[in-house]
Amino acid sequence: MTFALSHAAPGQDLTLDDRLVIQDLLSPSDDCRGDDGADVIAGLTRQPKALPPKYFYDHLGSHLFEQITTLPEYYLTRTETAILQAHSGDIADRVGPCDLMEVGSGSSTKTRYLLTALAQAGYPLSYQPVDVSGAMLKTTADQLLVEYPRLRIQGLVATYEAALAYPRPASGYPRLIAFIGSTLGNLDPEQCHALLDRITSAMEPGDYFLLGVDLVKDIDVLERAYNDSQGVTAAFNLNMLQHLNWRFGGNFDLGRFRHRAEFNPWASQIEIYLDSLESQRVHLEQLDLGVTFSRGEPLLSEISRKFDLASLTASLTAVGLPVQQVFMDDQDWFALLLCRRVAAP
Ligand code: AVI
Repeated sequence: MTFALSHAAPGQDLTLDDRLVIQDLLSPSDDCRGDDGADVIAGLTRQPKALPPKYFYDHLGSHLFEQITTLPEYYLTRTETAILQAHSGDIADRVGPCDLMEVGSGSSTKTRYLLTALAQAGYPLSYQPVDVSGAMLKTTADQLLVEYPRLRIQGLVATYEAALAYPRPASGYPRLIAFIGSTLGNLDPEQCHALLDRITSAMEPGDYFLLGVDLVKDIDVLERAYNDSQGVTAAFNLNMLQHLNWRFGGNFDLGRFRHRAEFNPWASQIEIYLDSLESQRVHLEQLDLGVTFSRGEPLLSEISRKFDLASLTASLTAVGLPVQQVFMDDQDWFALLLCRRVAAP
C-alpha cells in the first residue's frame, strides 16, 4: 500500500505530500499483527523455553520501552545520543552527500542529529526510514518534514529483509545505512551474520554503514541497566505474557512469574528471563497449546549481546565492511562504527 505518491516538476515548490512517500511492504505474517503463533508454539515446546523478543512490543510494551530509554540505569540510549550529538558533523564530513536509510527507525529521535549535520553541510536530504509500525513511521515522517524543509522521505513499512531487498534510490549518491540503538545485540550470532549479509548485499562499493553497539563493561553496570530500581524493565518483560494472553487467548498469570536479567560472561550477553515461581500449567486457547512449567523454570525472553570492539571490527571486515572510524563516549561504553563497503571479499 502507498500512502502518498506524487511528483513535482523541477523548480516547482514542493508541498509536504510531494516530499513524502510511504510504502507498506508488510505481509500479514511479517509482524505480530497477523501472526499465526508458530514461533510461540516452537518456543514454548522447546527446552529450554524461549520466546522471540518481538512479542515485547504491543502498545504498552512500546511505551514501556520508551520509558526504559530514559531510566538512570539504562545508559545505552543517552550514551549513543551523546556520541551522535558530538560526532554527526564528522560523519557528514566523511560520508558527504548521501541517501540515508535507517533500519528500525522508530521515532527517529537520534537520527535528527545526522539529518541536522547533513543539512548544515548543505547536502540534499534524502531519508528512507524503515519500521514495522506504519503509524509510528507516518507520525515521525510528518514531524520531520516540518522540521527539515528540504527533506524528502521514502518510508518503508517493512521487515529488515524486505526493506534491504527493495531498490535503492536512484540519486547516484552513496547510500548510508544506519542501524543504531544496539538492536544488533538482540540477535544471536547466526541471525546477526544473516542480517549483516543482507545489509552488505544492499550496498555497493563506496556505500557506508553506521552501526551502534553496546560494549562489554563492568558486570554491575550491565546488570543494573536491565534490573532498574523502578521496575520498568520487569514490567516490560512481564508484559510479554499479557501480550500473549491477549493475542492468543492465553491464561498466563503474571503474578506467577518473575523478571530476571543476568550477564552471561561466556556468551558476553545479558539474558532476560521470566522464571516460573511455581509449577503450573498455562493454556493458549487460540493455539490449542497447553504448556507445563516446573517451579523455577526459566523462559528466555531476550538476549542483549555486549560486543568487543576488536572482534566486531574483524567480523565486519570479513563481510566486506571494513571500519573507517569509531566514535565512542568518554567511558568507552558504547561505540558507533562507520564502515565502508568494499568489493566482495
Ligand atoms: C532494543 N534493545 C537494544 C534493548 C536492549 O538493551 O537490548 C531492549 C531492552 N530490553 C530490556 N531493556 C532494553
